[in-house]
Parts: sequence; C-alpha cells; structure tokens
Amino acid sequence: MPKISKKGQMMPSSPIRKLVPYAEQAYKEGKTVYHLNIGQPDIKTPEIALDAVRVHSLDILAYTRSEGSEGYRKKIAQYYAKNNINVDHSDIIVTTGGSEALLFAFGSVMDSDDEIIIPEPFYANYNGFSTASDIKVVPVISKIDDNFALPAIEEFEKLITDKTKAILICNPGNPTGYLYSKEEIRQLAAVVKKHDLFLIADEVYREFVYDGNEFYSIMQEEGLEDHAIIIDSVSKRYSMCGARIGYLVSKNKEVISTALKFAQARLSPPTLAQIASEAALDTPQSYFDDVIKEYGKRRNILIRELKKIDGLKIAEPKGAFYCIVELPVKSADHFAQWLLESYDYNKETVMVAPAAGFYSTPNVGLNQIRIAYVLNEESLIRAVYILKEALKVYPN
Ligand SMILES: Cc1ncc(COP(=O)(O)O)c(C=O)c1O
Repeated sequence: MPKISKKGQMMPSSPIRKLVPYAEQAYKEGKTVYHLNIGQPDIKTPEIALDAVRVHSLDILAYTRSEGSEGYRKKIAQYYAKNNINVDHSDIIVTTGGSEALLFAFGSVMDSDDEIIIPEPFYANYNGFSTASDIKVVPVISKIDDNFALPAIEEFEKLITDKTKAILICNPGNPTGYLYSKEEIRQLAAVVKKHDLFLIADEVYREFVYDGNEFYSIMQEEGLEDHAIIIDSVSKRYSMCGARIGYLVSKNKEVISTALKFAQARLSPPTLAQIASEAALDTPQSYFDDVIKEYGKRRNILIRELKKIDGLKIAEPKGAFYCIVELPVKSADHFAQWLLESYDYNKETVMVAPAAGFYSTPNVGLNQIRIAYVLNEESLIRAVYILKEALKVYPN
C-alpha cells in the first residue's frame, strides 16, 4: 500500500474528539450529556447577517477577490477604527476562518524547523497548524496559580534561538480565559522588537471581556507595525462559526503580500459567508451588550457553583468563555471518559475537555479540565452539580 506522509502521521487529532465515541455511547444509553467541552455558542446569530443571505440578488455564486471583497474589507477597517486600531482595508486579508489566517501567518513568516514560542496551555489546534507548516512549537508554561498571566518575559528570552521567528499569544485566552494587560502587551512588544521577531495575536475573542476590563490589542501598540499580525474571526463574535470567515491583519506590507499568495492559491474565501459577515458588521451594539452580559453572568454562575465543590483550583477567567479547573483526580483524561462511560446522575452526565491536550509539554495539566460556559444558566448549574456528585464517587 502507498505510504502516508510522516507529516500526516504526526498531525495530532483533536484532543476533544477522542471522547466523542464515548459521548455517542452515552446518548445511545439514553443519558443526557451536558456539553461543557466545546466552544460552540448557543447564542443566536444576528438576524441582520442571516437576512443578508436569505434574500440576495446574486445570479452567479462567483469567486471574490482572493483577499476578500473590497467593500467588506473597507467595512472591517471601519470596525477596527471603532476599536482604536488604525488599519487600511489593504492591511486585511479575509480568510476561511481564523484557522486559515493562522495557517497563512505561519506560512508567511516561518520555514521548516523554525520555532514559535507560545505560552501554554494554548488552543490545541496551534499544534496541528504547526505540524502542517513543519515548524516547532516552543512552549513557555503559564501557571494556574497565577491565573495564567503572562510568564515572566525572561522566560521568553531564555527560549529565543536563531530559529525563533515569532511569539504567538491568544488574547483573551482559549483555554485560559486570561486577558493580557496593556503592560503585558508592552513587555511582549519590547521583546519582539529587541529580537526582531513577529508577534502574532489571536484576538478572536476580543469582544468577550468582563468586569469592565479593557481589551488592549497588539495593534494599538505604537512601533509594532512591522512585527504585529492579528488573527481574527467572525465565528464567536457573531456566533457564526459555520460561516468560516476570519481575517489576517498586519501593517507589514511584506506579510500581507506574502499571505496574499497563499490566499491566491485557494482562490477565494466563501462568497455567501462574506455577504453574511459584512452585514454582521451592522449588528447593533445592543446585541453585543446583551451577549457580553449573558456570558458575564454565566461566568459568575459557573465560578459560584464550582466554588461549592471541595478541592478544586479555579482560574477565574476575565475574558473569552473558557475556564481551566484543576480537579482532585490523578488523570482528567480518565475522569472525562469515566463520566461518559460509567457515570450518570439520574440519567444525566457531563462532557468536559481534559486540559492536557492544551499543553505541549508532556505530563503537565494532567488533572485539569477546560470548561466552556456556552450553556444557559439552568444547564450550567445542573452540569456543575453533576460534576460535584460525580467527584464524590469517582474511583480515583
Ligand atoms: C483561540 C482560537 N483561535 C482560532 C479559532 C479558529 O476559529 P475559526 O476558524 O472558526 O475562525 C478558534 C476556534 O475555536 C479559537 O478558539
């Protein structure tokens, strides 16, 4: 039989996916499963975006420009201006989700065996995109005891070699919920300038910030124009994960002209989804106010309920909609499988994401899980209650 590539064999499968067969078995057994494991929001997509594709005047569903339609990019630039980020539409490439923007960014700034430093735990697919791009992730550990704040900048400097090309952060963080302060962004800015590196910031959760905290983008930082690359997405912002629209943004013209070549190779981002996403930019502020209020409320409920369980360590999230919790178990992997396979509380159980998959250092985070608070209040309270009852009887 012809052989699969080494790269293909090295591609990590989703650390969450491996639990899916157990969840399916649980459904077959008639159990209700509360999904605390995935980042698929239950929030409605803005009507204005859906209406734009319900009725349209296209008679050919044609390609758009590889960098995305000009009208859409101009409106995206206005969106950034409202968010204190000064970019022109020519600084923006519309991509097929933030996922493709990450691939284009990696492809544009790194060659085989180059290194990218990423604070861990991090969004698990960074591993997959790095394998696909044949680059090496160099993790720098952030700690639950510090709420996953930025590790000391010296820790980054220790890891910089002549192969290091970029630092990647996710702000606010998936899976940590941590929101980097202006001061932390300033420290990163100084280090990338000093060592002439790129700073890639995955800001797909930028809107989801609580407690009146302010989000500070790397592109608000003066002097970082040649270094900064933003990864963005409509997926969570407008609850439009299925649209598959994101953007890569940079003031560095060489980055944009290189990423454009990757974009040209795949011809065009999805046309209908651009129409929906362009309309979504006219979503009234009241939609966001309501959504942020709802997530903020859910976050508070989640933390309140989790605090009722003995022996947990909770990293209180300031943004996004994820929370890392350390459990009094040896293996969160085993616990998560056991919840689906062997446990139910009156025919109900919960599915969580073991956090080890968000670390690339082996044997770290083994007793941690990630909880996504994308369920309504009642389900969230119920799910945490079931977690509490399960921990009482789990044969650790
Ligand atoms: C941190 C982070 N970055 C990027 C993505 C990619 O999202 P999409 O490709 O849907 O824009 C996700 C999706 O969950 C994410 O959590």
